[in-house]
Amino acid sequence: MQKERKLIIAGNWKMNKTVAEAIDLVTDVKLSLASVKEVDIVVCPPYTALGEVSKVILHSNIRLGAQNMSEQNSGAYTGEIAAGMLKEFSVRYVILGHSERRQYQKESDELISKKALAAHLASLKPIICVGELLADRESGNTEKVLETQVRGSLAGLSKEQMEETTLAYEPVWAIGTGRTASAAQAQEAHAFIRGLVGKLFDETIARRVRIQYGGSVKGSNARELMSQPDVDGALVGGASLETRSFADIIKNSI
Ligand code: PGA
Repeated sequence: MQKERKLIIAGNWKMNKTVAEAIDLVTDVKLSLASVKEVDIVVCPPYTALGEVSKVILHSNIRLGAQNMSEQNSGAYTGEIAAGMLKEFSVRYVILGHSERRQYQKESDELISKKALAAHLASLKPIICVGELLADRESGNTEKVLETQVRGSLAGLSKEQMEETTLAYEPVWAIGTGRTASAAQAQEAHAFIRGLVGKLFDETIARRVRIQYGGSVKGSNARELMSQPDVDGALVGGASLETRSFADIIKNSI
């Protein structure tokens, strides 16, 4: 499938995998996807496994991502991890504002924008997540919610920083539920988000920025989703925890 932008498919392992399990999984993923050049492949293990996973994927086509980071550089912030610490493990990407963090850690758009700036200052590429709740969709507020999140989370980014940012549209009602947005629903939301990036930055950046879809992506729905003109990849949760299901998504997207 020839796309305008190179696809980026990332596995978000969430709070799963011990170090030993992470090494097994990524070793397998690396072998199984060694010949893939058409897609940027990213794995995002928990912090504790970053060091070992980083060693396994050295000199491979797999890149490393983290699931979160602090907006601060260092200091008295118990339990937090700074961008500079991620860089030590050759982390390239960092997921910011995942809906689980928005929900359980009460992360705001303002905080997410500060994290995004801190990520860029450390040359990490943020993957910024946005997405509406089921109640928002049912009350016809999807675009309003997306607009607030996109404007708030990207606030203060320069054009150059925006070009190095990936967005992820993840309707909250589709995450871990087995209920995927239809390809048409995904395309509509992605086109809306791209339009907003055009308004907030400029048309060239809007054309270049990659927008991933996330929410119950599997091998069986990947092809249809990825064939939508404004869908430039996937952020995969559950199906990234096994080699076969993650590899199927990538192979079916090419
Ligand atoms: P899921 O999660 O693929 O398990 O629905 C996606 C995500 O939370 O990024």
